[in-house]
Amino acid sequence: MNILVLGSGGREHALAWKLHQSHSIENLFVAPGNAGTAEFAENIPLDVSDFEAIREVVLSRGVHLVLVGPEVPLVLGIQDYFKSTPSLTDIALIGPSKAGAQLEGSKEFAKKFMERHGIPTAAYRSFGKSDVEQAYRFLETIPPPYVLKADGLAAGKGVLILNEIQEAKSALREMLVEAKFGAASSRVVIEAFLSGIELSCFVLTDGKDYKILPTAKDYKRIGEGDTGLNTGGMGAVSPVGFADAVFMEKVESRIIKPTVEGLRKEKIPYSGFIFIGLIKVGDDPFVIEYNVRMGDPETEVVIPRIQTDLVELLRATAGGTHKETDLVIRKEAAATVMMVSGGYPEAYQKGHAIRGLESVKEAMVFHAGTQKDSNGDVVTSGGRVLAVTALGANFKDSLRKAYAGVSEIE
Ligand code: AMP
Ligand code: GLY
Repeated sequence: MNILVLGSGGREHALAWKLHQSHSIENLFVAPGNAGTAEFAENIPLDVSDFEAIREVVLSRGVHLVLVGPEVPLVLGIQDYFKSTPSLTDIALIGPSKAGAQLEGSKEFAKKFMERHGIPTAAYRSFGKSDVEQAYRFLETIPPPYVLKADGLAAGKGVLILNEIQEAKSALREMLVEAKFGAASSRVVIEAFLSGIELSCFVLTDGKDYKILPTAKDYKRIGEGDTGLNTGGMGAVSPVGFADAVFMEKVESRIIKPTVEGLRKEKIPYSGFIFIGLIKVGDDPFVIEYNVRMGDPETEVVIPRIQTDLVELLRATAGGTHKETDLVIRKEAAATVMMVSGGYPEAYQKGHAIRGLESVKEAMVFHAGTQKDSNGDVVTSGGRVLAVTALGANFKDSLRKAYAGVSEIE
């Protein structure tokens, strides 16, 4: 089978790394990929939102299946494009339809969907540009902290949590009236603040049945001890200790089942990953957000814990045969530690040489922001540069091995 993975981060490296281990793989392409994926796959430079360019690659390379890493092409409707383009209708594409991708592409859509299907989430109201006064009045009726969410995609920056009512009102005005996040904040969801501990839950569905992948928890603050500025994610662990069997039973019955059934009942085509951002409040799970892709850096701990052949799982996802497919999870725990450019998440430099990759013994190195320079040397090309993942007997053991790997790299 010839497979094309779209994307260029640590998530895509981990997915491609796992696909590459399958006996079913003939040719593996990653577009655009990074220096890590170039080690075992063919990188193809393209923009993941350029559907014509993707079509060109699929046809010229005889690709049978496309795995979409990031959300943007899904929200732009790549699945619908494949379904409606005669030369592509036989190609399997893992990812939801444009309608399904609204679960991530519109916070308001996601909230209404949860409301229709009785899925536990924070109480909310949504407002447009013409309802600013109403929105102010609503803020006055709820207790702080105030949670404001830009409706559309805002590269992970569209959620503001504010303690003071005046701050909340001016942030709301900036979002709605001054288009702080562009068109993404032309509508804003205001929701009740939930206090608890978060985790990431991943589901792979063929639209009827589903598999629950290992849980993970990512850590977003830049500093040691979960301090400092927010980032795209500095590391992750899997499994999540507090997500025990009793809790996961609630997650499945109250959230996962109604989500998959809700999509099916509403005739929204969905064959792909659902990433459910959860918060545990007391003993109960609530949905903070849906994403329609895998998480990053969560993928770098979830994928290494999956024993089952990923090509088989994706085949079953595209073919609607999840029911007949098993998912085997390894017993070991996994931890990943992100190595980032100095200065990140603020200004940072690119193009620095990376040394010591070959000295890492007990860990796997997934590349995020790397590329090869004109001499063929691996250099930094982003804020998040490498995700160093290790498996271990338990969480501490895996974390120790991941940090031992980090210490080899300069
Ligand atoms: P989101 O982009 O929706 O995941 O929101 C980003 C982050 O904001 C989440 O990971 C949470 O830490 C926080 N957050 C979002 N919604 C709420 C809420 N209703 N209550 C408390 N924290 C929230
Ligand atoms: N790690 C969170 C995300 O991928 O959105």
